[in-house]
Amino acid sequence: DDEHRLRALFEMATDGIITMGERGVIETANRAACELFGYTIGELRGQKVNMLMPEHDRKHHDEYLARYQRTRVPHIIGIGREVTGRCKDGREFPLRLAVSEVKLEGGTLYTGILHDLSEFHLARKRVEDLN
Ligand code: HEM
Repeated sequence: DDEHRLRALFEMATDGIITMGERGVIETANRAACELFGYTIGELRGQKVNMLMPEHDRKHHDEYLARYQRTRVPHIIGIGREVTGRCKDGREFPLRLAVSEVKLEGGTLYTGILHDLSEFHLARKRVEDLN
């Protein structure tokens, strides 16, 4: 049925997909998101999305959310941004982040789509090294 097809799509997407509430608490993450950061779904659900970032953004992401909710001026929503992610083992990697917002009865839901740019960065570096 439709529910199963949607779930399969979500789980098997090659990009990471993470949803969270307005306070930044992770509600769901697909398989690709878990693999990207080296966590199991059990380790991510219910935790703050801040755990997936290097120090600076980790400290300030709550403020980013609060400021957006106060001003409604987006800096990433509908725009996208290249940011740095931080894995469970501490390794950091570049990723393209796209965020969208959905207003539901139960509150606001944010969906992040995360595309790993590690390969792209490596390829670009190899080209630069040729010059
Ligand atoms: C805002 C970084 C993941 C949702 C921001 C901003 C930064 C940032 C730097 C503020 C941009 C600015 O004010 O110039 C990161 C990093 C992530 C991450 C490094 C690494 C994993 C996520 C995820 C979601 C999300 C997974 C959603 C599920 C938001 C929202 C805002 C925001 C809603 C405020 C609205 C906006 O600025 O458009 N993030 N973020 N972030 N982020 Fe994240």
